[in-house]
Amino acid sequence: MPDLPEAASLSWLDDAIPVATRFDDPYFSLKGGLDATRHVFLAGHGLPDRLRDGFHIAELGFGTGLNLLTLALAWQRVRTGNDHLHYTTFEAFPMRPDDMERALAHFPEVAALSGPLMAAMRAGEARFTLAGIAVEIITGDVRDTLPAWAGRADAWFLDGFSPAKNPEMWGEALMGEVGHHTARGGSFATYTAAGHVRRALAGAGFEVRRLPGFAGKRHMSAGVLS
Ligand SMILES: C[S@@+](CC[C@H](N)C(=O)[O-])C[C@H]1O[C@@H](n2cnc3c(N)ncnc32)[C@H](O)[C@@H]1O
Repeated sequence: MPDLPEAASLSWLDDAIPVATRFDDPYFSLKGGLDATRHVFLAGHGLPDRLRDGFHIAELGFGTGLNLLTLALAWQRVRTGNDHLHYTTFEAFPMRPDDMERALAHFPEVAALSGPLMAAMRAGEARFTLAGIAVEIITGDVRDTLPAWAGRADAWFLDGFSPAKNPEMWGEALMGEVGHHTARGGSFATYTAAGHVRRALAGAGFEVRRLPGFAGKRHMSAGVLS
């Protein structure tokens, strides 16, 4: 039998924001979770305008699922007919469903979508469909699982913990794999503007731009595969 993944061990800030003990870092912005996600991962990619049937988003770090739910909310507003997106997310330390639910309870805007997400999580499903998005969660250290992935994404959400605390999620080789698993014209976005991450993404073939960060954070990064 394969080893079960190690569940994330947490503490809570203000009883609302989960903080990973292993990385000593919060899962989402202390200032305005959903709006921060919209700023970095939707606007940073030119979404929802680019969304179309078959568009594939991939994410480094599934965490609470908040990025997925924020995307699903936007997709519900622009989706036509039976169109579907694909969402592949990579996670080494899955959160316990009770912890996910506790974190998501602070976002009433996504309440209607977090119910079905939690049902899939409690059933231990790694593949499920949520509001017109075919989701796959790939468990394991992304430095092993991404090179083995056969897919290519149109948009990458790079959402590891901060590069200083979670360097495994931002290394040169891994950013090279991100480039390698990006479709023609595809893009990346991330909240960080750390120089070594930007250089690694440029080395992976992206035209890297520095953009204004969310709410007081000076910069974020985004770019298109050149
Ligand atoms: C900032 S959190 C992601 C937040 C998430 N996108 C959300 O919407 O809640 C970073 C995530 O990366 C995961 N992670 C850290 N190192 C990893 C690794 N080497 N491989 C895969 N996942 C990793 C952590 O367990 C954590 O869930």
